[in-house]
Amino acid sequence: MLQGRERGGGATFQQSIMSYRIPFNRPCLAGNEYKYIAEAIANGHASGDGPFTRKCHELLEKELEIPRVLLTTSCTHALEMAALMLDCGPEDEVIVPSFTFVSTANAFALRGARLVFADIRPDTLNLDESRLESLITPRTKAIVVVHYAGVSCEMDSILAISSRHGVRVVEDNAHGLFARYKGKYTGTFGCLSTQSFHETKNFTCGEGGALVVNDVDLVERALVIREKGTNRSRFFRGEIDKYTWVDLGSSYLPSDLLAAFLFAQLEERKTIQEKRRRVWNRYCESLADWAESNDVKLPVIPWECEQAYHMFCMLLPSVGHRNSLISHLKAQSILSVFHYTPLHLSEAGQKFAARPSNCPVTEEISERLLRLPFYNDLSESEQDHVTAAVTNFQLNLLRRQAS
Ligand SMILES: Cc1ncc(COP(=O)(O)O)c(C=O)c1O
Repeated sequence: MLQGRERGGGATFQQSIMSYRIPFNRPCLAGNEYKYIAEAIANGHASGDGPFTRKCHELLEKELEIPRVLLTTSCTHALEMAALMLDCGPEDEVIVPSFTFVSTANAFALRGARLVFADIRPDTLNLDESRLESLITPRTKAIVVVHYAGVSCEMDSILAISSRHGVRVVEDNAHGLFARYKGKYTGTFGCLSTQSFHETKNFTCGEGGALVVNDVDLVERALVIREKGTNRSRFFRGEIDKYTWVDLGSSYLPSDLLAAFLFAQLEERKTIQEKRRRVWNRYCESLADWAESNDVKLPVIPWECEQAYHMFCMLLPSVGHRNSLISHLKAQSILSVFHYTPLHLSEAGQKFAARPSNCPVTEEISERLLRLPFYNDLSESEQDHVTAAVTNFQLNLLRRQAS
């Protein structure tokens, strides 16, 4: 069964995904991608931290009103940088939601930290802040939150708990660029946060990410870690006459060609977000009656949250209904998918957990969740085809037949 994040599997697998009349995701151009890539080539600076990387940094720093953004090769790598920057090690525990992409947890397990899996709220599917404090121990080094689907976690409570215990907060904001909580952008609450520009995200360059450094004291170390553990950025600033190895690090800079692609997308952020808002609202409006009469839960957006319109997901009454609907849509050449499988039940999740986990909501939700095709250029007629196919699927009928 395909999951929400289809990758790899070779040409046949990729071709089969794109052979659907309505694929799950279709990367869309914003307009200036080719032009800017040509400029980046002409600039003669194809490696990292060239003119387009600087433009992306400036745009994001200004828009989000944050001290420092550093483009990275992926959100996964930005999370790995965060784990290095917080000096996470075998003596430490890191709290992560079980309902997330593997990178949220793997980045910290790579440093030897033990994982403590948190359950989620049944409405927003975000980390359940009401159960967070009970997971904190003297070993807790960090709390990693994920703003699922670009809808913010309950940040007031999470920050109050973290400051009571002196624990740092990292935001995995892979879904949530330009979402807000009580008027403030997600990704600007924790000491560090991470962004993804993978092709499934609202803004993309194929593969890419960013580390957002909200704590100014962490900026210099971030620069070192991103540059293979060297003080090369001080050398470029003319502060030292040669650079050397000063810390752990790796190669986390994306090529300026990718930054050129990304800048074309970020520049059109208002248009892109407006397109996605329209698609999201149309799904909500056209599926509301069907959902109500079939016991299907549509997304919940708390009043404090302005969402990022990253995805449209629904909760079906059971795993059987969810899988039948996926097959029903597939028969009409529509690719719908599910994700995430609970990390605390995975082989690695059990190996790297600090202790046995208790995440019943995650287990239940992950079996019932289904994501509909969602991309910037999903046309109204394509969307009508999807919603007609969904509303033709009568779950009540299925239930009556089963009984
Ligand atoms: C919540 C979350 N975190 C991290 C990632 C990893 O992103 P990337 O592919 O940019 O490494 C993803 C990818 O889908 C994600 O959904």
